[in-house]
Amino acid sequence: MLKGVIFDLDGVITDTAGYHFQAWAALAKELGIEIDEEFNEKLKGVSRMESLEAILKHGNRENDFTKEEKEALATKKNDHYKELIKNITKKDILPGIEKLLQELKENNIKIALGSASKNAPVILKQLEIEEYFDYVVDANQIKNSKPAPDIFIDGLKGLELKPEEAVGVEDAEAGIEAIHGAGMIAIGVGVKGDVNVSSTEELTYDVILRASQAC
Ligand code: BG6
Ligand code: MG
Repeated sequence: MLKGVIFDLDGVITDTAGYHFQAWAALAKELGIEIDEEFNEKLKGVSRMESLEAILKHGNRENDFTKEEKEALATKKNDHYKELIKNITKKDILPGIEKLLQELKENNIKIALGSASKNAPVILKQLEIEEYFDYVVDANQIKNSKPAPDIFIDGLKGLELKPEEAVGVEDAEAGIEAIHGAGMIAIGVGVKGDVNVSSTEELTYDVILRASQAC
């Protein structure tokens, strides 16, 4: 029986995925590395430092920087990203999402955020939707990021639910793998899950309920 939903943030609740790409592409360019949208798919859901490592590897520059230099590069990307998301407001919530959050609440379904982003709490605040969330996974406390299941396992723990009582919603392959690793049903938004929707507009309470029953 469905008792909870754990949502990814970037690309599911709001379209920050494009801002992450913009900030990474700018940093990569400074390092003489080119990344395109196709490569960016591999970065979705992946932690900040692991994304940097993947970009450096892509440009054959993985051995060119010390740990401290890498920390500085990751901070530089994040400062740029924070500048890009500064003006995000309620109007940047993806279509259908707030209605869905309302419906889940009305039906006593618990809601958690399972994002790898350390910027997630600030973004929820800017979108003015923090009150819908019963639990927000703190990415600072998670050892292994997606595709490891840790974020979703922590989300289940925070909601005090078993894997079969909740579904996860993701837009990234790494995220779908993480949901499955936690033993949950995965709904893919524009990516292959157990149940698929092509956009958040199709992500209704009915779809989620049916997904939880069908699998
Ligand atoms: C994920 C994004 O949600 O968070 C990734 O899909 C991002 O692109 C990751 O790298 C970490 O985010 P942040 O905001 O902590 O750098
Ligand atoms: Mg995402």
